[in-house]
Amino acid sequence: MRKCIYDGALPINLYASDLFSEYEELSYELWRDKATFPQGHFMADDILAPNEAFTRGTLMTQLGPGQCDIISITMFLHLFDYANQLKAATRILRLLAHKPGSLVLGSQAGSTTPGEVPLKPPFAELHEEGKRRTVYRHNPESFEGLWKEAGRAAGVPLKVSAVFHAPDDFGKVKAADEGFDVAAKERKYFTGAETRRLYFSVMRS
Ligand SMILES: C[S@@+](CC[C@H](N)C(=O)[O-])C[C@H]1O[C@@H](n2cnc3c(N)ncnc32)[C@H](O)[C@@H]1O
Repeated sequence: MRKCIYDGALPINLYASDLFSEYEELSYELWRDKATFPQGHFMADDILAPNEAFTRGTLMTQLGPGQCDIISITMFLHLFDYANQLKAATRILRLLAHKPGSLVLGSQAGSTTPGEVPLKPPFAELHEEGKRRTVYRHNPESFEGLWKEAGRAAGVPLKVSAVFHAPDDFGKVKAADEGFDVAAKERKYFTGAETRRLYFSVMRS
């Protein structure tokens, strides 16, 4: 949200959500900018809550279905296994405006070989059934498949674009803009022969 405001968006048009309500006050403390934001624009909610809880939760009742023209989900879906990514994606589509051109976008960790990856310690806690927790890493094709499946479930026609490589000037533009070396950060977090960063847009057609 802060980057959008820096780039010229009006705070009144922006909303944010996370599982943890504490993030709102903590971020004001960090950035000392509470006065910049209208009240009620941060919504603590669980995108994976049971159906009834989600329908009664802050996203669906305070923001409401079909209210967002653009939804940014950078570094988000890759936290979950495939089943939960599908659940989250379907719910994200419920928030998206009912008009062609409405957009979900972001980037996340991907892999040249798509599939479930068991989490390593300290994130490797067991499911109730005693199975190791996994996260699904996508390549562009599997990512498109996920959203097409979510689109069918939500009754939303979609055009999906997903690529592994950022535009050539991405690092340079960001580095000049924000004063840090994005390319070096990418090297630190996106290691391993198969790991890639996946950039995507999902547009209502
Ligand atoms: C890696 S951060 C990405 C944050 C931001 N998009 C960014 O790029 O800096 C992922 C966020 O997802 C939140 N999260 C995890 N599980 C969630 C859930 N079930 N519902 C909503 N948010 C969740 C975490 O609390 C965390 O803040």
